[in-house]
Amino acid sequence: MRYAEPIAIIGAGGHAKVVIATLQAAGLPVGAAFDDDPSRWGSEILGIPIRGAVSRLPEEGYSQAVIAIGDNATRRDLSRQLTGIKWATVIHPHASVHPSARIGAGTVVFAGAVIQPEAQVGEHVIINTGATVDHECTIHDYAHIAPGAHLAGRVEVGEGAFIGIGSSIIQCRKVGKWSVIGAGAAVIHDISDHVTVVGVPARVIKQDTAARHVR
Ligand SMILES: CC(C)(COP(=O)(O)OP(=O)(O)OC[C@H]1O[C@@H](n2cnc3c(N)ncnc32)[C@H](O)[C@@H]1OP(=O)(O)O)[C@@H](O)C(=O)NCCC(=O)NCCS
Repeated sequence: MRYAEPIAIIGAGGHAKVVIATLQAAGLPVGAAFDDDPSRWGSEILGIPIRGAVSRLPEEGYSQAVIAIGDNATRRDLSRQLTGIKWATVIHPHASVHPSARIGAGTVVFAGAVIQPEAQVGEHVIINTGATVDHECTIHDYAHIAPGAHLAGRVEVGEGAFIGIGSSIIQCRKVGKWSVIGAGAAVIHDISDHVTVVGVPARVIKQDTAARHVR
């Protein structure tokens, strides 16, 4: 997709740095950043000015943006609040995305990620550095596939789920919505909604997880 007008960055934390770097690498026009933390206003992130609160976006004249915030529920909430914004899809030139894969609006795909044929990736998803999503996987909206996580063929990841760094999911398994897969876990069974699992093989350690404050 081509973007003639600058793309505003929503969020100015560590994740936003990687989103900005990805926009720059892709040759996309980077606009100002917006963040609700007043201590950041007036400063810069990677040379990009942080203009003020997210609510200022329309009055600053931006109609396109990307939500550069790692927390899955926050991306969901902001994408629903900010109606009228066109959400940019950002793919690093050193990611490999098969032409038959579908990538939704607002989704970011970082360097080294691989998305194989007929994968379906929803909106406001993060496919982080070096993560792999194999053939015919389905990743629902607001999910985050952390760096170096590997999904075998036909895996389904539910809305808002967090797949931790370096974890693996064998083929045809489902991860329920808003669940958390811990760093380094090996998922060999389906995982239900709203749980946290860790280990090899992955086992439930917490129920009613909201995939919010994943550290
Ligand atoms: C799974 C995770 C979310 C759990 O965090 P938490 O809810 O704060 O859980 P705690 O730290 O209280 O740990 C609970 C127990 O699970 C264990 N545990 C936590 N994470 C684990 C992991 N990844 N693998 C194995 N065991 C783990 C802890 O040792 C602890 O065991 P204990 O009760 O015997 O002491 C977190 O540890 C994790 O793995 N996060 C992934 C971070 C990531 O991928 N970051 C990338 C960002 S881009």
